Amino acid sequence: MTTLHVETGSANTAILGVGAYRASRLVPNADIVDAIDSSDEWIQQRSGIRTRRFADESETVVSMSVGAARVAVERAGIDMRQIDCVIVATVSHLMQTPSAATAIAHELGTDQAAAFDISAACAGFCHGVALANDMVRGGSARYALVIGVEKLSDITNPRDRGTAFIFADGAGAVVVGPSETPGIGPVVWGSDGEHYDHIRTPDWREVLASDEPHMPCLEMKGNEVFRWASFAMAKVAQQALDRAGVTADELDCFIPHQANNRITDAMARSMRLPPTVRIARDIIDAGNTSAASVPMALDRMMEEGDARSGDVALLIAFGAGLSYAAQVVVIP
Ligand code: UT7
Repeated sequence: MTTLHVETGSANTAILGVGAYRASRLVPNADIVDAIDSSDEWIQQRSGIRTRRFADESETVVSMSVGAARVAVERAGIDMRQIDCVIVATVSHLMQTPSAATAIAHELGTDQAAAFDISAACAGFCHGVALANDMVRGGSARYALVIGVEKLSDITNPRDRGTAFIFADGAGAVVVGPSETPGIGPVVWGSDGEHYDHIRTPDWREVLASDEPHMPCLEMKGNEVFRWASFAMAKVAQQALDRAGVTADELDCFIPHQANNRITDAMARSMRLPPTVRIARDIIDAGNTSAASVPMALDRMMEEGDARSGDVALLIAFGAGLSYAAQVVVIP
């Protein structure tokens, strides 16, 4: 009987480089409120958001990804042609097929790389890091690029009170590769399909059956999601710490999905994070960029010196599905 040759990769992996692309148009609450009969004060108090960024016509899911990825690869100190796999987490690439990833890989000059999109909504980036981690450990990629990207302004109804002030655009990227020491802890991930309809875009058939042609825009049962996230996600975050063998006291940075500052506060309270832990607050002027929010917040904390090389950071992301994923990482 023939015995297949199998390969294994690196025993340890790490995030080697981080990059972000911030969309060009700064949109303060004042520009949003009239269409939804709201106020700057209400939005800030309920979500923490003061401004957000929307892409202009020329900025696309592909172009923003390319911008973030180039920075991440350069900071990782590798050549673009060394990337073996491009994983793109997004819900706002507006073509059913092909994926955004192959176009992004082509623009980046990594046509030799495997390239595919994953659909895990706001939790997509942390799913991508988990996949990349296992690929590098398993030997199917030496370097994997993980991109979280959204142009949610394309699929947000500016007159929907529940979503118009929250969602925004941008991209973030990381390179995952081999490392001398462990840099990515075990993933804690899962799903709760009982609440499948809590955040969704309508089925195309619903749109086509309507009188007016319109984009299938995001719909969210905000308060239900808020209560689920505030309660259930702190437990997932704690499990990710436990699985990595890290205590709250040993944590340097907490980088949750930038969904709502009140959810972030509730999680930090439940986990009893000491005041020494620096917490990502990118939502204040970036809004909720779904799959892009964790890598964008990570990039910002590194840029501003709140996350330093060697720091231990807890990442957690959650959203439509409902789906979630969390892991502890070492800052490159
Ligand atoms: O990223 C994926 C995961 N997504 C999330 O995690 C989002 C989670 N949800 C949230 O962040 C929050 O639910 C929101 C920020 C979206 C809303 O905050 P809330 O505290 O859950 O508000 P609510 O929907 O319970 O509404 C409270 C009140 C209601 O008025 P009454 O019934 O108390 O008189 C609403 O009619 O606020 C009213 N309201 C608004 N008022 C001004 C709802 N939307 C608005 C608005 N402006 N845009």
